[in-house]
Amino acid sequence: MDEGEGQALEQRWAGSSGDGLAAAGGIKAAMSSYDRVAAGYDDHLGGMRRGRAWAAKVAPHLVPGGLVADLGTGTGTLAAALAEEGWPVVGLDYSHEMLKRARARIPRVVQADVARLPLRSGSCANLLATCVVDVVDSPEALLAEAARVLRPGGRMVVISSIVRRPSDPVGRIRFDLQTALRGGPPPDRPDVLREIAARAGLVLDGVAGSLERRTAYVPNDIADRIERRQMHIHLLCRADAAAWRNVVAPAVQALRDLPHPDRPHPQHQTCEVIVLRRPAAS
Ligand SMILES: C[S@@+](CC[C@H](N)C(=O)[O-])C[C@H]1O[C@@H](n2cnc3c(N)ncnc32)[C@H](O)[C@@H]1O
Repeated sequence: MDEGEGQALEQRWAGSSGDGLAAAGGIKAAMSSYDRVAAGYDDHLGGMRRGRAWAAKVAPHLVPGGLVADLGTGTGTLAAALAEEGWPVVGLDYSHEMLKRARARIPRVVQADVARLPLRSGSCANLLATCVVDVVDSPEALLAEAARVLRPGGRMVVISSIVRRPSDPVGRIRFDLQTALRGGPPPDRPDVLREIAARAGLVLDGVAGSLERRTAYVPNDIADRIERRQMHIHLLCRADAAAWRNVVAPAVQALRDLPHPDRPHPQHQTCEVIVLRRPAAS
């Protein structure tokens, strides 16, 4: 981080770490679920290898040299990869255990709810949200906060999660489960995000590319993790008894009924790199 940015960063915080963290009900349950998955998160998702590959796709779309606030930074791999390339970064997340790992990688982390960012209005050049828009309780609140803290002309890069129905059976069951629990399409699908962003005062400039991940999932492992609420966390933490009985349990059973449920099934995932901007005149 260059020194000017470092000093300026201190002026940006409207409150101290964790101030106003909304930790009630479903949010509290989701936070503790993220705490529980933090230890295995990098092994599961590719750690710094993924962080560096994805950061290289993000960097060309950021305001050069400006602070990057990584919203829902998780273990901080993307922020760390950007820091390696000289970007001033700060990682924000509400999970203590995720942040503990991010803190080992990046110089500045803050515990905060992304729906209530402890950042001054108009203070940020760049925001990053990787696999986060579809996991927060309110994408609308996240985008409204993003619009508030971005300076005019500032950029927000969103990397979506899986926004199109995959062709493999495990991917399809997971996608259908999420769609049923959410009651609609993923909020980070570009056409949906464009609408949410517009209501918040941000412009979607376009989809700048896609990121491919080839991985493998063992159906019984996925079923176990769904039952423990260790994936699709915020949706499962909000699911009531009826949703659990009518939607979650059948999806778990469908996973266990797949052929060879103890063997890895290949998955090909595509995430999209979406660039938003706060108009210079707003
Ligand atoms: C799927 S992980 C993505 C982590 C990281 N961006 C990455 O790509 O590896 C989602 C992260 O968002 C965080 N998160 C979810 N809801 C949040 C909220 N309302 N406020 C702050 N962090 C949140 C979780 O703790 C978790 O670390």
